[in-house]
Amino acid sequence: MSLQLGRTVFGDPANKGRVLSREDALELFNSWVLNPKLKLHMLQVAALMRSWAAEKEQLDEAGQWRWELAGLLHDADWDQWPDLHCKKIIEELEQRQIDSEIIRAIASHGHLHFGVIPETQMDKLLYALDELSGLIHAYSLMRPGGYEGMDLKGVKKRLKEKSFAANVSREDIADACERAAIQLDDLIQFIIPRQALVAEK
Ligand SMILES: [Fe+2]
Repeated sequence: MSLQLGRTVFGDPANKGRVLSREDALELFNSWVLNPKLKLHMLQVAALMRSWAAEKEQLDEAGQWRWELAGLLHDADWDQWPDLHCKKIIEELEQRQIDSEIIRAIASHGHLHFGVIPETQMDKLLYALDELSGLIHAYSLMRPGGYEGMDLKGVKKRLKEKSFAANVSREDIADACERAAIQLDDLIQFIIPRQALVAEK
């Protein structure tokens, strides 16, 4: 099974600035994604993307929502249509005439799978935050206190253990940090406290 998208141009430039309302985005999210674990993952990545846009890129509310939206929908088709992963959500957003910047970020969140190289800052951060977020969440689930007291050292130890969260590609994480020109340690320290706010109670 190949998930390669076979193209690198997405959406229509005429749709620049068009986004889904929060209500419409949540409606799509809730009707397409049924698995609560996947939902939580997508909400975590959405929150991290919003925080990054606000704190590091200093974007206004509209900009923050664009980043959050890319995070919120990046795995929308993974639950019900794994064979069409990425393809289905991209086509849906194209049909809804959404800004190509957001569609492109989703299309490039796993370039080794989908064949689209992350280029923009939004592309790169979605790719980097997605991979690392999953590993950090898996770590929280095995700690008695969850996110409480979690530190950089502990996360790095788990990263070195190849058998821990083995489905999270260490190669992708290293590649993502390099592309985004971000130190792995900085990204881990960015994620821990922010993701803790979107954890299961
Ligand atoms: Fe993801």
